[in-house]
Amino acid sequence: MLEKSVKIGLAGFGNVGAGVWKNLEANRKLIEGRSGVHLEITRVAVRDPKKQRDVQIPAGIVTTDWRELIDADDVDVVVELIGGTDAAFDLVTSALKAGKIVVTGNKALLAERGVEIFRIAEENNVPVFYEAAVAGGIPIIKAVQESLIGNHIEGIYGIINGTSNYIMTRMTEAGLAFEDALKEASDLGYAEADPYLDISGWDAAHKAAILASLSYGYWVRTEDLHVEGIDRVTSADIHYAEKLGYVIKLLSVVKAHGDGEIEVRTQPSLIPSGHILASVNGVFNAVSVHGDISGECLFYGSGAGQDPTSSSVLSDIVDAAHAVTKDHRGLGFTAHALYGKTMPVQDTVSEYYLRITVNDQPGVISAIATTLANHGIGIRATSSLKPSEMKENGFDEVILVLHAAKFGVLQQAVTEIEALDCVTDSVVCFRVEDLDSK
Ligand code: HSE
Repeated sequence: MLEKSVKIGLAGFGNVGAGVWKNLEANRKLIEGRSGVHLEITRVAVRDPKKQRDVQIPAGIVTTDWRELIDADDVDVVVELIGGTDAAFDLVTSALKAGKIVVTGNKALLAERGVEIFRIAEENNVPVFYEAAVAGGIPIIKAVQESLIGNHIEGIYGIINGTSNYIMTRMTEAGLAFEDALKEASDLGYAEADPYLDISGWDAAHKAAILASLSYGYWVRTEDLHVEGIDRVTSADIHYAEKLGYVIKLLSVVKAHGDGEIEVRTQPSLIPSGHILASVNGVFNAVSVHGDISGECLFYGSGAGQDPTSSSVLSDIVDAAHAVTKDHRGLGFTAHALYGKTMPVQDTVSEYYLRITVNDQPGVISAIATTLANHGIGIRATSSLKPSEMKENGFDEVILVLHAAKFGVLQQAVTEIEALDCVTDSVVCFRVEDLDSK
């Protein structure tokens, strides 16, 4: 019989909440043996108590009002898994003000309102744990917070949205249409309740903002994030990229520059097909962290889904239980002033892939090349379809890989290219990422 007991209130019993209950029961002996604490879920707040669930919970502990978790004497730790940013903010901040330790997997909430949440955590000396907020089952938060604490983080490259990666993998490997691949991702419990967050790049961007904030000691504002999603990636782009020696991934890049500025951006990006990140497929995520002392550390695992995500929540529940029993008060985020400025995306530099839809007429290539040259941008490679493939696609496209340039300069050149008579549609532009640069 364990001497210490910690009481947990679970707010939200969807895919992840049910996974937390199920896996705590399945591995209870192991978790309690390792932690030395008895963990008891005393209350569960749900939206619809009548809903049919695969995982059964005793009716006596169910409520439809999360406020009961805040007021109850038999809740030490509040686990927020309701999602969204409005009620979840009220729930988290009410818990902190009531002195209850918070566990949350809510990346949108932390990215958008982290400043307020950690201020309230500090005022009340109550910690917030959020391992499940980034990269599902990969223990990346604690790796950055604890294991790499002795390092300046030079850069982070992450594939951190399982749904987007799953969709692009299924489009590439099984030839699935975008919509069908998205339906699979939703059926498997990978996609957000609103899959727009996945497809638009915002889910990954929220996670990138959290990693950047942890790495650089100031809470990065969501308005300073550059975000593009996978909605403009076509099978043709995947095919062209392959011919050029790349794969396309939704990549989040967090990078520090010598002057203390950092860049935080999420975009479909071409990465060399021989690079280890290129083989991260399906729902898997990978985060490559470059520390100035550690060198590159690569973290790989399932980025979404009930079991992997609940593994991260369980680790936070144990940390929270230790914070209850041992009065440990690492608050979850510690600000410092070594960095503090996010670089405007226009100043960020990379190579680019352009897909330009054109009327096939003399002088097309030279008009485009001249426009790029006027902005000092050179062409590094081109790709073209075989005649048979051209017919299938039914239009003429110019595919270019450009030498490195500032994004702002590239945008000006693209605007001028789009104004050319021979160009018939908006230009598709993805980054080509040099993953070895610091
Ligand atoms: N929708 C998210 C993803 C869930 O696909 O990565 C995990 O955060």
